[in-house]
Amino acid sequence: MSASEAAAINALLRQRLRGRPSRLYAAAAHLIEHGGKRFRPYMLIKSCQALGGKKSDAMPAATAIEMIHNFTLLHDDIMDNDSIRHGVPTVHKKFGVPVAILAGDVLFSKAYQVISGPRVPEKRAARLTSRLAAACVDVCEGQLYDMDMAEGAKLPTRSEYIMMIGKKTASLFGAACAMGAICSGADEKDARRFAAFGTGLGVAFQITDDLIGITGDPKVTKKPVGNDIREGKKSLPVLMALKKARGKDRAAIRAAFGNARATSVQLRAAVSAVKSLGIEDDVRREAGSYAKKASSALDRYPGRHRDDLLSLLDCVVWRRL
Ligand code: IPE
Ligand code: IPE
Ligand code: MG
Ligand code: MG
Repeated sequence: MSASEAAAINALLRQRLRGRPSRLYAAAAHLIEHGGKRFRPYMLIKSCQALGGKKSDAMPAATAIEMIHNFTLLHDDIMDNDSIRHGVPTVHKKFGVPVAILAGDVLFSKAYQVISGPRVPEKRAARLTSRLAAACVDVCEGQLYDMDMAEGAKLPTRSEYIMMIGKKTASLFGAACAMGAICSGADEKDARRFAAFGTGLGVAFQITDDLIGITGDPKVTKKPVGNDIREGKKSLPVLMALKKARGKDRAAIRAAFGNARATSVQLRAAVSAVKSLGIEDDVRREAGSYAKKASSALDRYPGRHRDDLLSLLDCVVWRRL
């Protein structure tokens, strides 16, 4: 996203996240003020433009999708016991769990206010609302699958993992693109093709997210490494690592995996064991295969904005942040 687009989205977010009690709004805006890639609003705006729509028509929905994304982050950090995001304390660490839950709820509710506001024609608002609500239902289902998989003793199959990330993450990517299509005035067929692109990209995005959560550089990701190991998250990189690890490496991973009391030394040992297995390229290749499949959904929409969307595929697969 260009600096001016990001500034425009940030200004709209700030405008909406003001009010009293000020602590509630400070909590809702906390992560937004400290970073974030604005990936979903970018996809939404580009999808609208790829179908001939104007950027200005996409701005309310782009603001809403970033609010929903941040709502999921606030609640996710509570569920995952995470203390740092964007290099700063997570919302529940800084403001306490009750305020973080409410701040997430405010973001969720305001998103729907934005897409049903006076600047959005009624029919379009109804389509946007139903599309966004469907994605939120998916996120909730996916988040529970994620936790159940982490708590259960059994390792999920690869397709169970893909189903889970499809719901918890890719559904919002799919909604971003479908909502961009809706903002352009496109019909359901076009919206579905854009959703298919976004969903495929979202699956790839979560696979690389799970990878850089272990092998990434925390100075770049601004999130600590190894938390997914401590929480026992059975992500694709972990499944691949457990399959390949032998001897000392396997013992190091097992000692920290799902161990809430794992020491930082144990976590570091598990992280370096995973790194030493050399699975990084395999994981990125797997992410690449989902990204590549997604690209064909946009075959019939040639043009510069479609190309901008397609160039996200490599960014997602090779990203370090
Ligand atoms: C983080 O998403 C949560 C996942 C779905 C993996 P982002 O990486 O897009 O979050 P930002 O950029 O910090 O907002
Ligand atoms: C991403 O969750 C999906 C949602 C936030 C709904 P993760 O737990 O995998 O992502 P990070 O690592 O906390 O960003
Ligand atoms: Mg998390
Ligand atoms: Mg999570």
